[in-house]
Amino acid sequence: MTKVVCLVGSVYGNSTSVAEECAEFLRGQGHESEVFSSFDLAELRQDLEAVWLVCTSTTGQGELPDNIYPFYQSLKDEFPLMPDRKYGVIALGDSSYDSFADAGRMLDELLQELQAKRLGDVLFIDACETADPEGVALDWVKEWVKHLS
Ligand SMILES: Cc1cc2nc3c(=O)[nH]c(=O)nc-3n(C[C@H](O)[C@H](O)[C@H](O)COP(=O)(O)O)c2cc1C
Repeated sequence: MTKVVCLVGSVYGNSTSVAEECAEFLRGQGHESEVFSSFDLAELRQDLEAVWLVCTSTTGQGELPDNIYPFYQSLKDEFPLMPDRKYGVIALGDSSYDSFADAGRMLDELLQELQAKRLGDVLFIDACETADPEGVALDWVKEWVKHLS
């Protein structure tokens, strides 16, 4: 059993629904999983074992949603190397923007710089391509779960 904390960055709620879908599936597979829309780095880091599943949209012109921005900024400022941390990324966006899914990409790059280990590939969910982001995420998490112990 693994603990997966879903860290949501969302403006309109799509990423929250996607994270909730994933968390429900993970719980059904016997893992512990909760969705957080408000969180801070210091608190999250205390749990050494938890896998972070970052699930964020992109807003503005390639910006992070307000609720996940402080987490990103703390990671940048404090720059804590986390070689033991495992994580996944679901990046929601809209490919009609040049900055397609940049928030997810930025968080993935930063976590890589911090030496955290990504499980699986980043899932990109393009609002231009699907009206069912939860369904896309469910298909992905069914494979992603195989990385958990
Ligand atoms: C005002 C606005 C700005 C957006 N900016 C971007 C962007 O820069 N890049 C991108 O990939 N998607 C962008 N999007 C698309 C959103 O990321 C996409 O609709 C996503 O599903 C929203 O998820 P959320 O409800 O969790 O915020 C934008 C959407 C809106 C309404």
